[in-house]
Amino acid sequence: MAAQVQIFEDVPSLARSAAQTIMQHLVAAIQERGSASIALAGGTTPMPVYSAMSEAPLAALIDWGKLSLFWGDERCVSKTDPASNFGAAMKAFRSHDRNAPVHRTRIFRMHAEHENREIACREYESLLPAKIDVLLLGVGEDGHTASLFPGSPAMRESTRKVVAVIGPKPPPHRLTITPKVIEDARLRIVLASGQGKAERIRAALEGPANAVAIPCQLAKEGQWFLDRSAASMLAKR
Ligand code: 6PG
Repeated sequence: MAAQVQIFEDVPSLARSAAQTIMQHLVAAIQERGSASIALAGGTTPMPVYSAMSEAPLAALIDWGKLSLFWGDERCVSKTDPASNFGAAMKAFRSHDRNAPVHRTRIFRMHAEHENREIACREYESLLPAKIDVLLLGVGEDGHTASLFPGSPAMRESTRKVVAVIGPKPPPHRLTITPKVIEDARLRIVLASGQGKAERIRAALEGPANAVAIPCQLAKEGQWFLDRSAASMLAKR
């Protein structure tokens, strides 16, 4: 399956469209299996997507009590630290309404602040579903996704689902899902904006296979929501 790429003028329009697609897939998952799971990404681009999901008109599409919320990666900080992916997502989900529907979901955050990261990884592995229905991923300027950085030993991990890593992006200590979890997800949705990512996105989507060097290529068979800048080096579509 080839990548499905959609290109938007700006981040607000990217966010609205991505949120709509995500909600449609969650509706379908609930219809087919009675419940749905989504794993969230950190970084800046996904935040307006979370806001759009939890506001009218999209919020009314699903029974939030049937949704389980996971994370693809987490920085090793407390949940109240401004760098926490959990904290940032919760803030975005509640940006307009403290009673936003997310409070009805089953929320599974990575306990990345645990003094023993190995225990935290094992705990999270036991919580993750076999196949995440909707996996959201960001892209870094170096081509990383989740907290899988280029050349990281985590890229060669084939049995574990969650591992601790030390990456070049601050804060360095992180927990991340492994390639296997990305490959096993029912749907991968990539959200990326900004010129700085354009070259790695081109390499991921149009260059030779080399996910160890370009981790976001793991999501090649997915739906990519890009702004004009992030898509600027792709061959004309
Ligand atoms: C993190 C991430 C990371 C992020 C990308 C893009 O916790 O840092 O999950 O993979 O999604 O670095 O971040 P931006 O959207 O801020 O560029």
